[in-house]
Amino acid sequence: MKTYHVTTFGCQMNEHDSERMKGMLESLGYREVPERADADVILFNTCSIRESADSRFVGHLGEAKRLKSEDPEKVIGVGGCWAQSVKDDVFRQFPFVDVAFGPGQIPKLAEFLTSDSITAQGFFEFESFSGHLPMKRAREFQAWVQISVGCNCKCSYCIVPSTRGREVSRSPHELVEEIAKLAQDGVREVTLLGQNVNSYGRDLPTEERIRFSDLLREIDAIDGVDRIRYTSPHPKDMREDVIAAHAELPSLCEHIHLPLQSGSSRILKAMRRTYNRERYMDRVAMIREHVPDCAITTDIIVGFPGETDEDFEQTMEVVEEVRYDGAFTFIYSPRRGTEAATLEEQVPHEVKRERMERLVDAVQRLQRERAQRFVGRTMEVLVEGPSRTDASKLRGRTRHNKTVNFTGLAQPGEMAQVEVTGATSTTLAGEELLLSRALA
Ligand code: 5AD
Ligand code: SF4
Repeated sequence: MKTYHVTTFGCQMNEHDSERMKGMLESLGYREVPERADADVILFNTCSIRESADSRFVGHLGEAKRLKSEDPEKVIGVGGCWAQSVKDDVFRQFPFVDVAFGPGQIPKLAEFLTSDSITAQGFFEFESFSGHLPMKRAREFQAWVQISVGCNCKCSYCIVPSTRGREVSRSPHELVEEIAKLAQDGVREVTLLGQNVNSYGRDLPTEERIRFSDLLREIDAIDGVDRIRYTSPHPKDMREDVIAAHAELPSLCEHIHLPLQSGSSRILKAMRRTYNRERYMDRVAMIREHVPDCAITTDIIVGFPGETDEDFEQTMEVVEEVRYDGAFTFIYSPRRGTEAATLEEQVPHEVKRERMERLVDAVQRLQRERAQRFVGRTMEVLVEGPSRTDASKLRGRTRHNKTVNFTGLAQPGEMAQVEVTGATSTTLAGEELLLSRALA
């Protein structure tokens, strides 16, 4: 039996695509092995969002090159956004690569492996949903569901529109059917994925077109799905119907990831985000009004070209005003082919670093303060496995997407009632209420 090994970089969409790649390989009769050195097919699912993502992957490729020189029969494949962004240059830069394919061309990997091709091949059209392929899930009770691919936004810093193409939505019937099957299969939590989930459906033919909030409603009605999450929405498309759905639908979690990017309206304009600080804050107010306890997390970029001290202070103000439950913070990194990479006034590295430090301090402090509201409460936790820091404890996540380490007896995939006894900036600590288990 032939074997494979996949290394995944980047976002949840890539995690999802890798599960599909694995499913496809298994249906061809390949078996997964834990060590790259033991695999006949060595795959990398790459990311190109920032320069650091590029360089991490290039380090790993070195090992693949060595393995290939020891055993030329091995197949080296490079998929994902980095491959898409350099296209056939992959083969010039790394002549030992056999097959390269963009995110819209995963099925071509199967074609390549089943053909007698001996020459290297690249596949970079935007053509197919990986969501149609068989899937090998990392955890049986959690699943990603790709509701759309691609992105029609023109954010001036972002490489994704060029790596994942125009937005295409999957049909709602197909999605509901797929999720119903997943639920029968034991899946309790689904995360809907799209580059811009809440513009879902706008490209569908009229007879199929439904709003994102209606899709959420249909999924909520499926028996067995206890939790629905989605990522990422765009603030410009965050309408009241979606926010209200968080209050109405029992399975839709109390967590919204609302990427800010910058708190300065001037910079937001240069980023082509199509909202300003006021509109963003209106969305936050609407969330707080409908779901007062909702966790709000965000993405922030510091050091976008032309960002002044004053602009950065505005980002800090928004952070303090919103009081985020968590934030991913990034130093701006120029990406090939994007508008912002051509802008003059790139911010010096030292300035970016200083701003980043201040931002991270504020984010961590607020995160810790916000987490205190959970202490003393009994919360529903979906158990994921043993704690990473203490094997005698369990680890799981609340509906607010907080990781909890707790003592208890629950099994992975079960919902536990956990009394929260402490909170740091990153995790909660607690104890399972065993009485509630006895009664259940
Ligand atoms: N530089 C830094 N951060 C970026 N992001 C996207 N492109 C860049 C870039 N060129 C960040 C954004 C986005 C997240 C996934 O990555 O904050 O929301
Ligand atoms: Fe995901 Fe963007 Fe990285 Fe592609 S470039 S893997 S879409 S984060």
